[in-house]
Amino acid sequence: MKKPIILTGDRTTGPLHLGHYAGSLRNRLRFQKDHEQFLLLADMQALTDNAHDPGKVRRNVIEVALDYLAVGIDPECTTICLQSHLPALAELSMLYLNFVSVARLERNPTIKDEIKARGFGRDIPAGFLCYPAAQAADITAFKATMVPVGEDQAPLIEQTNEIVRRINATAGKSILAEARAVIPKSGRLPGVDGKAKMSKSGGNAISLSASPDQIRAAVKAMYTDPGHLRVNDPGTVEGNVVFTYLDAFDEDQTELDRLKDHYRCGGLGDGTLKSRLEEILQELIAPIRERRQLLAQDLDHVLSVIQEGTERARERTEATKKEVTQGLGLFRL
Ligand code: TRP
Repeated sequence: MKKPIILTGDRTTGPLHLGHYAGSLRNRLRFQKDHEQFLLLADMQALTDNAHDPGKVRRNVIEVALDYLAVGIDPECTTICLQSHLPALAELSMLYLNFVSVARLERNPTIKDEIKARGFGRDIPAGFLCYPAAQAADITAFKATMVPVGEDQAPLIEQTNEIVRRINATAGKSILAEARAVIPKSGRLPGVDGKAKMSKSGGNAISLSASPDQIRAAVKAMYTDPGHLRVNDPGTVEGNVVFTYLDAFDEDQTELDRLKDHYRCGGLGDGTLKSRLEEILQELIAPIRERRQLLAQDLDHVLSVIQEGTERARERTEATKKEVTQGLGLFRL
């Protein structure tokens, strides 16, 4: 039987952090054995809000690839490829832009949020507004049916499927497959300061190569329940950042439930909770950090992984482009 196809990716704007790990890297690790998985180093999409700093986008191609390999993405199972070197993605993007309206792009909740967060005002780069069509090209060019992403990306998959239906309807046959977002149940991991989104620029992230001291400091600074002043006071679990992290990373569910009950009744100190979380995070991150340091000493190897992956991806994406242009009945020379 053919394995289901997965495509997902990351903008190459900085190294990945724990939020990425909980949001999608962990799912990708789970899937890589029994799915055909492609990971896209999305340097073209990174330019849509970083055109002023192409150097940053270039440098982070290697950083993100290092993160993939360090967390355990295995290039024998997963194809890692570079967006800017897959011309079919750009060509399909141009084509798809004709199957989506500007009003629909402006209504996309992800785009709306990101425009606000980036403070573009009226100066929205056209490439930025249109990147949902490009992301649809990424997903469909691989004929992916599963897209492991954080929950903020769901509206982009929805818009992808609208484009898929329009293309198929215009072609009069089913050329492209619809995809579904695979989103972790635990929801989005907040920043250590409790803000909804963990981000490097927000200064509230724990990087996947954080040192033991950085991990300790981040956990120490983490918000708990501001009403939990004395150990014996009853505490609140919901919205308590330390518990949210334990929910995401503590594998001992029974013990975690017990701790929650204890915390709610009073008598369990924030310090005890934090040491448990710190230990879990130290254990999670140490092997990632060590593998990353080793891999960083052999960048030629990392480059060859990207190169070979991109070649494999090129074949795949060119084939889909041909199917789409022919399916739509464009002129053939
Ligand atoms: N939008 C994703 C991010 O912000 C990156 C990305 C580009 C992507 N192309 C994709 C994700 C295709 C899933 C599928 O990191």
